[in-house]
Amino acid sequence: MCGIVGYVGRAQAAPILLDGLRRLEYRGYDSAGIAVVDGGRLETRKCAGRIAALTQLMRKQPVSGSLGVSHTRWATHGKVTDQNAHPHFDASGKLALVHNGVIENYQALKDELIRSGDTNFRSETDTEVLAHLIGKLYDESCASTVDIPEKKARLLAAVRAALRQVIGTYGITLVHADIPDFMIGARRGSPLVLGVGDGENFLASDVSAIVAYTRDAVYLNDFDVVAAGRDKFEITSLAGDSTEHPVSKVEFTAEDIGKGDYPHYMLKEIFEQPNTVRDAMRGRLDPDECTAKLGGLNMTPPELRDVGRIVLTGCGTALHAGRVGEYLIERLANFPTDVEYASEFRHRNTPMTPETLVFAISQSGETADTLGALRESRRKGFRTLGICNNVASTIARESDGGVYMHAGPEIGVAATKSFTSQLAILTLLGLLFGRMRNLSATDGSRVIGALEALPGQIEAVLELSDQIKEIAKKYVDANGMLFFGRQFNFPVALEGALKMKEITYLFAEGHPSAELKHGVIALVRPDLPSVFIAPDDSVFSKNLNNIEQVKARKGPVIAVTSGNGPKHLKGIANEIIVLPEAPEYVMPILAVVPLQLLAYHLAVELCRDVDKPRNLAKSVTVE
Ligand code: F6R
Repeated sequence: MCGIVGYVGRAQAAPILLDGLRRLEYRGYDSAGIAVVDGGRLETRKCAGRIAALTQLMRKQPVSGSLGVSHTRWATHGKVTDQNAHPHFDASGKLALVHNGVIENYQALKDELIRSGDTNFRSETDTEVLAHLIGKLYDESCASTVDIPEKKARLLAAVRAALRQVIGTYGITLVHADIPDFMIGARRGSPLVLGVGDGENFLASDVSAIVAYTRDAVYLNDFDVVAAGRDKFEITSLAGDSTEHPVSKVEFTAEDIGKGDYPHYMLKEIFEQPNTVRDAMRGRLDPDECTAKLGGLNMTPPELRDVGRIVLTGCGTALHAGRVGEYLIERLANFPTDVEYASEFRHRNTPMTPETLVFAISQSGETADTLGALRESRRKGFRTLGICNNVASTIARESDGGVYMHAGPEIGVAATKSFTSQLAILTLLGLLFGRMRNLSATDGSRVIGALEALPGQIEAVLELSDQIKEIAKKYVDANGMLFFGRQFNFPVALEGALKMKEITYLFAEGHPSAELKHGVIALVRPDLPSVFIAPDDSVFSKNLNNIEQVKARKGPVIAVTSGNGPKHLKGIANEIIVLPEAPEYVMPILAVVPLQLLAYHLAVELCRDVDKPRNLAKSVTVE
């Protein structure tokens, strides 16, 4: 959700900034821009469109200088135009600022600036208002001639004073044409990381933008303000007090965030799932005690035994994982589990009992709605844990403990491997809580066996990719797709539909199979295939009835089944995809893979931009 990259050093800034923007493009891709300080002047290039358009523009009109800021945008305030692309400038045109987040009181601040005589606004954005405010405060404080160190101190003071007036969220980076070798960054609610180099420093929304240049990173906290030169940096609070931050080593390398031999990140990430599911379980299975070991929960056995209810919260795919988790924990541990949209949980007065344990599920660990839910839950005094992939993320840092996914960077905007890692972790939680209650050692051991079999079984499902590609070709003219499943596989239907709409732009909906006859059946027609996730389980015969109902109305059926399923479905379903046999509670981890592949292959057939679907951005850091 908007990507920021800033550079101060001795190298040419522009190639580093452009390279960083390309790596951040998954965060937003409707416009992009760059501003570089060159001998006391700001050189700016910005345009609507992708980074490729900016690159082209910069080829025609190159810029030079070793201090600069850059931005890739996902529009919040103001249409997608060249004018609204970042960087934005103060009234003097000497200060360039890039921003990720939303300044909620921008109109009041703008009115105040206009009243004071500043009418030189060139865009419709909230960001420009902040640039003007900082510029005004700085210019007022620099009325008399001052030297460079004093200018730095006064710009820093102006940034702090302006940010104290802001209501909303921001990750910002700014430079000033009069101050060489100096950039400032600050965050509240939107991520910002400082990359510490040798004679150079970087600022970025996500460490993947700068990992090719340095693996030493300082993750900023809310209300931190960082002032960085070539050889040093200082982090202070909004009040001006110095704060200490450790320099951490980034876990992955620039190679890890490449596409390898795959045409798209999404396909690479789908095919990584045997390994990522294995990594989610690594060292966490205890075959001797027939349970799971999850030390990161930071809870003693008595505290774990006292848990009486679980609330799982998240957004999008992470929420769907939570919905599977609800079935899982109820089945394995047999105690109440609820799932809440993070965005609703935060604003709703959900009655909570004291023994409630809350989990915030988030791949990025930066989703604003999920972070809001986590903070609300902690404010109310509930122990709140994270299930995150990004170990340096705000949710990971602000939670009372949790379980990391260890899935490696997920770049494709459509979440895939993070979903199956989340499901593996939720199964471990079900096992852990189950073994503290009624789950026998024999049953616990069966769960471990089922989990250990998963990586090999996912590999077997991935071998169906060519079959699924042929199915995708056959339905390339479909006018949409319906997804149905029951019990553990109802959330898989929701996830299959989400993948389909995100990357093919086809209309798609997921429903519990039995709901078909309560209204959805009105949609059934020959150009709208129905995908049934109908493994050979306790509800197979019920699913079969629903499949017959669709067939009776000339709706094509794509069935995802297992065991004896194909025998019953032959002659009824138009397409049959066969999964390996597995217990119901781990079946979603297998069943979602063909749905990911179906969405992927159909999107490719339709020539969609698989990794960067329209209107979307990964890591939604605004509400
Ligand atoms: C779906 C997708 C989104 C995210 C949602 C939560 O493919 O990518 O629905 O799942 O925005 O993101 P995280 O997990 O980062 O909190």
